[in-house]
Amino acid sequence: MRKRIVAGNWKMNKTYEEALSLVSEIDNMVRDEVNGDVTVIVAPPFPFLQSLGKLTQGNDLMHLAAQNVSEHDSGAFTGEVSASMLKSVGTEYVIIGHSERRMYHHEDAQTLYKKLKATIAQGLKPIFCCGEPLEERDADNHFEYVGKQLHDSLSYLSNEEFDQVTVAYEPIWAIGTGRTASSQQAQEMHAYIREQLSRMFDAEAAFNTSILYGGSCNPGNARELFAQEDVDGGLIGGASLKSRDFTDIIKSF
Ligand code: PGA
Repeated sequence: MRKRIVAGNWKMNKTYEEALSLVSEIDNMVRDEVNGDVTVIVAPPFPFLQSLGKLTQGNDLMHLAAQNVSEHDSGAFTGEVSASMLKSVGTEYVIIGHSERRMYHHEDAQTLYKKLKATIAQGLKPIFCCGEPLEERDADNHFEYVGKQLHDSLSYLSNEEFDQVTVAYEPIWAIGTGRTASSQQAQEMHAYIREQLSRMFDAEAAFNTSILYGGSCNPGNARELFAQEDVDGGLIGGASLKSRDFTDIIKSF
């Protein structure tokens, strides 16, 4: 069955002490207030993964994600972090292909494919991001654009590898802008993504894949977005940095 997931992408925010407090606040609030079946994921910066891994390991409510991974297994790649390193400190998920990495670090489709492979090979689960810039939406080319992103990085995976993947649709014009996709815009793109996935993999796998919405998702709009048939949760940036807002989003199913 499709999992309902809310993942917090902290990006480059928080110090160590702040990270520990945020996670313990979220943990307490989720324990007290959330009774539905939701997978909660936090994606802090690399230096905090090990300590947070100790808190989330054996915790059935909270799971840990990295924001990036190297496509290489090991070796002379200064500044990079491998999937096996992430695994060794308790990381379960890896965000791959976030638009900020595609834009600022020039990660192309082939590199993302290699990152997906490296991640899955270590038994970690990728959260693969896609989403169009504003000019593609304005030119009514958003479906083709996202379809190509999916095809160019995901289609070379086997069915078994694809079973590990969660997809996040994040229109770039909605990220950090306060401008959210309408629930209708989200639903039609999510349905399109699922259809594309069913062409690349088997229909059951596509049906069971969680597809998250990301882009200015907040406690005020999460409920309507999550109510859409093909929206299985959210990838949350700004609002994941406040325990109250993040927990309220988790309660929005
Ligand atoms: P936002 O970011 O919620 O701050 O718009 C979402 C993301 O980039 O994952």
